Formats: sequence, C-alpha cells, structure tokens
Amino acid sequence: MNALEIDRLSVRYGRTTVVDDVSLAVPAGRTLGLVGESGSGKSTIAAAAVGLVPLAGGEIRVGGIPASGRGAAARGARRSLQLVFQDPFSALDPRMSIGDSIAEALRATGRSWSRDARVARVRELLDLVHLDPDRAGELPAAFSGGQRQRITIARALAGEPSVLIADEVTSALDVSVQGAVLNLLRELQERLGLSMLFISHNLAVVRYVSDEIAVMRHGRIVESGPTEQLLDAPAAQYTWDLLDAVPVLGVRMADG
Ligand SMILES: Nc1ncnc2c1ncn2[C@@H]1O[C@H](COP(=O)(O)OP(=O)(O)OP(=O)(O)O)[C@@H](O)[C@H]1O
Ligand SMILES: [Mg+2]
Repeated sequence: MNALEIDRLSVRYGRTTVVDDVSLAVPAGRTLGLVGESGSGKSTIAAAAVGLVPLAGGEIRVGGIPASGRGAAARGARRSLQLVFQDPFSALDPRMSIGDSIAEALRATGRSWSRDARVARVRELLDLVHLDPDRAGELPAAFSGGQRQRITIARALAGEPSVLIADEVTSALDVSVQGAVLNLLRELQERLGLSMLFISHNLAVVRYVSDEIAVMRHGRIVESGPTEQLLDAPAAQYTWDLLDAVPVLGVRMADG
C-alpha cells in the first residue's frame, strides 16, 4: 500500500515545463528521498501535491484517493498531507506564541477541540519534538533555528498527516543542529509510523533518512531505488556527481 502516489505528474509555469511526467510512490510507513540540483523541480512537486500549484497532467493520490478537485474526498486527501517548509524563521508568525501556532494547526484534523483538549494536545506535540511543554506561551524569537524547525514539525504533526512532506528542512540550519533535526524525523517516523517524502538537494542528508531515493534533474526522474542499492552503484553520472559533492558530511552524520 502506498501512502502517497504521484502519477505521471507534469507542472508548467507559463510555457516552461518544470515537472515532466514524474511518477513517485511513498510506501506506507517509509521515507522516500527526493534529491536533485537546485531548480530541478523538487519543491514544485511538493507544491503540486498539496494543491498550491495546478497540475498540467497526471494525478496525486493519498492512500489511493485522488487529491485534486473540489470534492470532499479530495479535500480530505489533501488534508492528510502536511508540508514542513524550508525556512523556520519565516514559517512562524513572530507575534503568535508557539503554542497558539500549533493549536491553530489542530483545525486541519477537521474535528472540534475543547480548550482543555487543545492545551493538552499542544503540550503532547511539544513533548514529541523534545521541546519543553511549559514554553508553549513563548514567542518564536525565544527559540533557536533548530528549535523553531522542531516547532514547525510539531505544527505539521498537529494536522495528523498520513504523509509528511519535508522540503529542505535542514537547509537553513547550522550544520551543528542539522543532525539533531534529522534524528528527530527518523524517530518520529518510527514512533508514529509516518510516511515521508523527504526533499533535499543534499544527497548525504537524503541518504541519512530515506529508505528509497529518487534522483531528479531538469524536471525528470533520472533514477530511483532502495537507498543502499542506488548509492552503492548509481547508474547515472549525475548521481555520482551529487555523491561526490557531499561525502564528508555524509560520513559524519552517519557516525554521529
Ligand atoms: N512561481 C514560479 N514561477 C515560475 N517559475 C518558477 C516558479 N517557481 C519555481 N519556478 C521554476 O521552476 C523550476 C523548478 O523550481 P523548484 O523550486 O521546484 O526547484 P527545486 O528543485 O526545489 O530547487 P531548490 O533545490 O533550489 O529548492 C526552476 O527553474 C524555477 O526557477
Ligand atoms: Mg526547492
């Protein structure tokens, strides 16, 4: 069973095709890594999946249910996808306490929440991402970059997604905290049985969290397969080049 299926997706901006006939599947409870150079179309796929850009062709399915269109089923399918954005500094409203930001995201569950239930759930979510629940009343400015990314992850989880789409979640962070955020995602995935589409231009980062990897270039998938198999013997020169670009970081993170 696939949690997310991207089936022959095409996206155009004006007359330029930036995603060209791309098919990807995220098996339930697994992480699919999507890697490729800047501008290859990775974020566009994420945006199309959650309905932020129109599809020029193809279909997105969540748990087998088509996610495009206006019907209740499609809305429900889109609701079970949550996106974590690249930049934890702009993703949070600076005037809203982090607890309120997370509480607001509970609406995505489609259920109504009593005040007590809301407060308890926010505390639980903060605890889940290893932040002190007693800090729920503080503003984003009181937190470091890595902590803010944990807050945006907690907010995404508030919507009870079946699939989390993480787009460059460590790119804006200091190298020193990148590993901790990646470890958190791995841990959450195991504990919650999450399915994840994990996007990064950094192959070392993708390799660290992904069961399978798809390599993207110029709007197309160049190759894909189970992580070890793909990286032991990449078929495409392009994948070798991506590997060459980041070997040291990869070793360090795997050790740490
Ligand atoms: N709103 C837009 N209008 C027009 N072109 C766009 C728009 N957004 C992205 N593009 C173009 O679409 C292509 C794919 O961009 P996209 O952001 O999906 O790449 P990416 O793989 O996520 O890159 P990065 O690694 O830098 O995040 C790029 O050529 C980009 O310039
Ligand atoms: Mg991007």
